[in-house]
Amino acid sequence: MSPAKYVAREPDDHGVIDYPSAEHEVWNTLITRQMKVIEGRACQEYLDGIEQLALPHDRIPQLSEINSVMGATTGWQVARVPALIPFQTFFELLANKQFPVATFIRSQEELDYLQEPDIFHEIFGHCPLLTNPWFAEFTHTYGKLGLSASKEQRAYLARLYWMTIEFGLVDTPQGRKIYGGGILSSPKEAVYSLSNAPEHQVFNPLEAMRTPYRIDILQPLYFVLPDLKRLFDLAQEDIMGMVEQALQLGLHAPKFPPRPSSSSSSKPPQVA
Ligand SMILES: [Fe+2]
Repeated sequence: MSPAKYVAREPDDHGVIDYPSAEHEVWNTLITRQMKVIEGRACQEYLDGIEQLALPHDRIPQLSEINSVMGATTGWQVARVPALIPFQTFFELLANKQFPVATFIRSQEELDYLQEPDIFHEIFGHCPLLTNPWFAEFTHTYGKLGLSASKEQRAYLARLYWMTIEFGLVDTPQGRKIYGGGILSSPKEAVYSLSNAPEHQVFNPLEAMRTPYRIDILQPLYFVLPDLKRLFDLAQEDIMGMVEQALQLGLHAPKFPPRPSSSSSSKPPQVA
């Protein structure tokens, strides 16, 4: 990772961020391409959110535009952050119904993949479903639980986030679809995740918490919800009790080779 490579842009006195035209072009390329990729692959609740947000294609949207739609539907807002943020800040924001968005966009050279979550990933990947009450409720509950969790508990919560909000699939009457933002913002993973190449498991929160992941590879395993409401129901269940159980049982063996350098699953959960 190269933290100095991307710098989040600051708003002017009116709260408007002035992106250079080359960055609007990157947004245009990404959203044009990805709207085609997700056709027939994204779940209906996500597509409903896309329709409500009515994201511009020719320019990077301002955060205020996103806020007016999310505020009116679920009361969520986006919060401008510099880049990767500590767990503590991340949970504080979610507990306050604020979704962190770093106001930078990937370069032309990294169109297909970057480890740092940029504004395209956050807005295109996550904000549509934050207009959905079930998804919004789960994310809010998750933030509140994370805020009062210990470091050890947070590591298990992070895996639950990864296997749902970032890389979750859902069964629908129209077939298996994507709802995870990490998949929806990735052209390669959107196709791969629904193929026969990776493993699909029926969603089980305890199993999700116990499943290690790597942030820099296509996921070998995806958990599949029976429907999106399962997340809302989960928010009413004893998630921290499950975390305690997961801590007792420990992690499953990874289904991937170790990362060449550095550790595999200790990164902030919002990266994709
Ligand atoms: Fe994300």
